[in-house]
Amino acid sequence: MTTLGVNIDHIANVRQARKTVEPDPVQFAFLAELGGADSITVHLREDRRHIQDRDVFLLKKTIKTKLNLEMAATPEMLEIAKQLLPDYVTIVPEKREEVTTEGGLDVKSNVQYLKNFVQNLKDSNIEVSAFIDPLGEQINYSKKIGFNFIELHTGKYAELSGHEQYKELQRIIESTHLAYDLGLVVNAGHGLNYNNVKKIASINNMNELNIGHSIVARALAVGLEKSVREMKSLITSN
Ligand code: PXP
Repeated sequence: MTTLGVNIDHIANVRQARKTVEPDPVQFAFLAELGGADSITVHLREDRRHIQDRDVFLLKKTIKTKLNLEMAATPEMLEIAKQLLPDYVTIVPEKREEVTTEGGLDVKSNVQYLKNFVQNLKDSNIEVSAFIDPLGEQINYSKKIGFNFIELHTGKYAELSGHEQYKELQRIIESTHLAYDLGLVVNAGHGLNYNNVKKIASINNMNELNIGHSIVARALAVGLEKSVREMKSLITSN
């Protein structure tokens, strides 16, 4: 059965908008687990725009499920991962100017560097995933490099519609089969929402979906009325 990884970066985005202490992603990880999250994902970016070092170390101590640390393949992040020892690390490409992770990691262009990087993490008993576009070439190189997992980028699928979306879905299905046959564990994510998730979740051998934006957006939609009501009640009751 496909499981759900909840990405809580957006909780930290709201906190960092004021550089204050709330909302605390650690508290929201607990709520996500109550709701049935099978793992918690955070992206510790080089520029620390949302998730902070403090968050990842507290999450490691407090969550009951699994911690998936998304990070760029930099020496700084390698040191943090080796101290933190998350259940797994997902290597993503990172550009300072992007709003979110735009494309998959080009594993083909960085084979030797990534081989050493992945081995270094595996030596610390951390499983390692590559966030890649659904392309046979990237999957084959991910296997050669030694990744245990891949995460297929579903951003394009999420943006397209009609026949184009259908074609992209077929590409994701074929990529899942290829990777699974090579012995890789297959995850997917990016842009998945309440309308488009089912087709991806029902792909055979799809292990886990990582979803953030749509879940946090939905939380605002289902929670705002109650939070206003509580504030109104405080203001009007003497
Ligand atoms: N997977 C990866 C590798 C990501 O970088 C992100 C975005 O942070 C996600 C999944 C989740 O994407 P979304 O927020 O669109 O659900």
